[in-house]
Amino acid sequence: MEAAGFHGAAGANAGRAGAFPRTAHRAGTDIFHCSTRRFWEPEFEGSTLNLAGWTKKLTGKPTITVGSVGLKGADFVQTFRTREDSEIGDLDELEARLERGEFDLVAVGRALLADPHWAAKVREGRFGELAPFSASSLATLA
Ligand SMILES: Cc1cc2nc3c(=O)[nH]c(=O)nc-3n(C[C@H](O)[C@H](O)[C@H](O)COP(=O)(O)O)c2cc1C
Repeated sequence: MEAAGFHGAAGANAGRAGAFPRTAHRAGTDIFHCSTRRFWEPEFEGSTLNLAGWTKKLTGKPTITVGSVGLKGADFVQTFRTREDSEIGDLDELEARLERGEFDLVAVGRALLADPHWAAKVREGRFGELAPFSASSLATLA
């Protein structure tokens, strides 16, 4: 589910926007992958919940967050538009939201392209060994 579609289909307010995920829930969706550019950005005014947080709250179903996990600076759209690199970002905010149960799974895009050992390094606390994202990763196989 793209954030733009969420707004476009139902209007930019959480009450009205709940119509789409509730319908998908009734249709048998098991889990929602809530695509955003930066996971820490609130989806609607008045709450810090992101798209994955709202979708879980509105449907009771598990959700996956995505968007600039482990990175700061350019988001993935900017990456394609301007070929900007992104620096390493800390994972504290992500961990806090995960612990609060705002979402259930985390998807990693560019950070994993830049560093195929990203998940293992994070699991083992080897944060100092993480590689920043370079747009040149889009053209190479690690
Ligand atoms: C090379 C590349 C290809 C992608 N292809 C798709 C795609 O086919 N469909 C899609 O929904 N998202 C696609 N995305 C978006 C990612 O799934 C993800 O939502 C986005 O990169 C944000 O996560 P990130 O900030 O961790 O990179 C792609 C991203 C990258 C970098």
